[in-house]
Amino acid sequence: MIKFIRYFIFFIPVLPGIFFFQACNEKNEKKNQIQQTDSTAEAQKLAMTPPMGWNSWNAFGKNVTEQVIRETADSFVSTGLKDAGFTYIVIDDIWQGGRDSTTGLLYPDAKRFPSGIKALADYVHSKGLKFGIYSDAGDKTCGGMPGSYGHEEKDAKLFAEWGVDFLKYDYCYCGDLGSTKSDYRDAMSRYKAMGDALKATGRPIVFSICEWGDRSPWIWGREVGGNMWRMGSDVYDIWDSPRSDQDPVGILGSIDGETNLRSFAGPGGWNDPDMLIIGLNNTGNIKGGGCNDIEYRTQMSMWCMMAAPLMMGCDIRHMNETTKTILLNKEVIAIDQDTLGKQGYRVMRKDGWEIWKKTLSGNRVAIAFLNRNSQSISATAPFKNIELDSTAKYNVYDVWKHAPASQANGTISATMQPHETQVFVLTLNK
Ligand code: GLA
Repeated sequence: MIKFIRYFIFFIPVLPGIFFFQACNEKNEKKNQIQQTDSTAEAQKLAMTPPMGWNSWNAFGKNVTEQVIRETADSFVSTGLKDAGFTYIVIDDIWQGGRDSTTGLLYPDAKRFPSGIKALADYVHSKGLKFGIYSDAGDKTCGGMPGSYGHEEKDAKLFAEWGVDFLKYDYCYCGDLGSTKSDYRDAMSRYKAMGDALKATGRPIVFSICEWGDRSPWIWGREVGGNMWRMGSDVYDIWDSPRSDQDPVGILGSIDGETNLRSFAGPGGWNDPDMLIIGLNNTGNIKGGGCNDIEYRTQMSMWCMMAAPLMMGCDIRHMNETTKTILLNKEVIAIDQDTLGKQGYRVMRKDGWEIWKKTLSGNRVAIAFLNRNSQSISATAPFKNIELDSTAKYNVYDVWKHAPASQANGTISATMQPHETQVFVLTLNK
């Protein structure tokens, strides 16, 4: 007992120190916990609105070079695209030179990317933009270059070291490709392998699933780490295709592919109807005959109504003035980027024209009239037919005319040219 008292007396002066040490430890632990929570939240903030940027495939295909990417980054800044919210510059397929047989590392084509990918990513970052790259869940990419199957961790690590912020991940040369059965489990495991590998790098990298919709990626996309998932075939530079079920699709076919899938889109994960063909004018890597500017405007309007990722595809170094006014319309972009992240939907269809509706933040709603017909048409819809309160009063704003639109109470009307889309933002007038 005396021994115990002696020890206790000996400890008295150091007790506050022990408590202090413990308190500090607890504080540090809490701080760590907070930091961990913060970094998780940070990761979740990825793609909280549909990603916006540019992808090399439509304009350049296998001829993409580092010079093109650098000049594209410069043009993002000089044309105002960056200020309008376009951020990601993505090199699509056929940037690769091969996979090193000793190290197992991918390397770029030395002729087209002599400075290497890291230097290119650094350049894009120096402009305040983000950098994206492409690979494939199979043995090879669609363009026949080495795929990432079985190399997921190594490739993800390399991409992170290079400073990649966005990965488009294709589905050529995968197990069931070309068979009549589409195995979604195989697709899930291939995409999850890369999704996990990207997460393990600790770098926030937008993961863009490009599986063309055959295995319903909208159902499992988020689960495997995806931030967007293609809904269908490649959109070619064409208004519509002869068949809705065959490659390539046009603007209309791609819109129709999104029908009824709105519940799967939202902050962090988006339905992707493919890239914008606006401004291609039948040039570049994908053709189809080209569209007119009214049709291109329809693509911009409808992609924004559908809360779609806005990945431009034309050579933005040489955009004409009309292309600029379409791609740089901040009022239509604001509909796409609305923080609620609600995908719009077709609320009415009649005689070849349709009305689409998208709920926006701040008691607002976007209404789009789409004319599928090859003739001009005047269309009117009473509010009750488009799920709006008949007695409500709205201030109506035309986002293409950049002006208020006068509309009769309880109805909304538009006169459209062939293939035109008109978009209005209605603000509840209390
Ligand atoms: C697939 C994709 C395209 C493009 C090419 C590249 O076809 O759907 O968007 O990435 O591969 O080879």
